[in-house]
Amino acid sequence: MAAASRSRVAHLLRQLQRAACQCPTHSHTYSQAPGISPSGKITDYAFEMAVSNIRYGAGVTKEVGMDLQNMGAKNVCMMTDKNLSRLPPVQIVMDSLVKNALWKLLSLPKRELLMPMLLWVVAPPWTPVKPLIFPTTSGTGSETTGVAIFDYEPLKVKIGIGSRAIKPTLGLIDPLHTLHMPDRVVANSGFDVLCHALESYTALPYHMRSPCPSNPIFRPAYQGSNPISDIWAVHALRIVAKYLKRAVRNPDDLEARSNMHLASAFAGIGFGNAGVHLCHGMSYPISGLVKTYKAKDYSVDHPLVPHGLSVVLTSPAVFTFTAQMFPERHLETAEILGADTRTARIADAGLVLADTLRKLLFDLDVDDGLAAIGYSKVDIPALVKGTLPQERVTKLAPRPQSEEDLSALFEASMKLY
Ligand SMILES: [Fe+2]
Repeated sequence: MAAASRSRVAHLLRQLQRAACQCPTHSHTYSQAPGISPSGKITDYAFEMAVSNIRYGAGVTKEVGMDLQNMGAKNVCMMTDKNLSRLPPVQIVMDSLVKNALWKLLSLPKRELLMPMLLWVVAPPWTPVKPLIFPTTSGTGSETTGVAIFDYEPLKVKIGIGSRAIKPTLGLIDPLHTLHMPDRVVANSGFDVLCHALESYTALPYHMRSPCPSNPIFRPAYQGSNPISDIWAVHALRIVAKYLKRAVRNPDDLEARSNMHLASAFAGIGFGNAGVHLCHGMSYPISGLVKTYKAKDYSVDHPLVPHGLSVVLTSPAVFTFTAQMFPERHLETAEILGADTRTARIADAGLVLADTLRKLLFDLDVDDGLAAIGYSKVDIPALVKGTLPQERVTKLAPRPQSEEDLSALFEASMKLY
């Protein structure tokens, strides 16, 4: 990379690290009462559902070449990596491109892509992009959302970007992809789905978010919980309760893995419009500051805390904290996940949900808290510092949180069982 562009990359990364995006689409403030927020700003009164076209079916990936031809595509950029390119899903995409004469191989090293990607990261969120097609494994729900994660290992920068402009033109949900996932990948992807559903269902309601945008284009992708997202989140949670353990424990259980793949899309539609909050906000430094932890079943040659693991490890502490607001929703989700809530007091909703989550994690052999993945008390200030810029999601938590609150949440997540 030329010296000039290297210094520009460093400048852009410093900007990203210093502050969360302050543009009207990405920033908003917390408010507890509909109408007027404590800061005097008027809260929003509307929400908008933006959803990708989705196609579901076993083997549907083979249609991608025809889709691109139907779109009139001349140049196609396929993003993959060394591991994925050896697996059948990528081979099937390549075959489909060749069959429709769309294939000319031009391989670009990662460093060539850094600058264009960075420029896009800092561009206004309504910047148009080329049509996007997402064949994916289950977990992130990225086939349905306008959310991307920018992760630059050399500087330990990991940041989420939300923009309606990057909602896929077409999401291909092919359950056959999930048959190649080892059990820890299935578990961690499932935890991501679980947290998407729980966080979006307990997020600050859209009509308590301020300011009210002066133009609909400034309404953020993450708008707060709303009646339509709620339906998707609750349904996804029911599927997780029924199928997650089966999907992890039996690689040949196509019914369980197919259903988890659908749950991922359902939760994606929900959180893609409602947003997530503290588990995700706190997860970025947990993944970004990893020291030596290497997750089982992930064939990478560097330390890695998988995204799903980084979000779920704080979930018992987070929901104990947030249940002060909307305790009924917290109790309802605990019941969906299998808790007997018949004699539970509403004041204990957070504790009941936290216990239910701990049991699920224990049953699925999850590491015993942040300490088990290499963190200790001395790391808490850095973890808090890494969470503070994630206002895009942390401000959607139903309860505002101080730096002391965040420290306490990290401390409570050091050990789970
Ligand atoms: Fe996630």
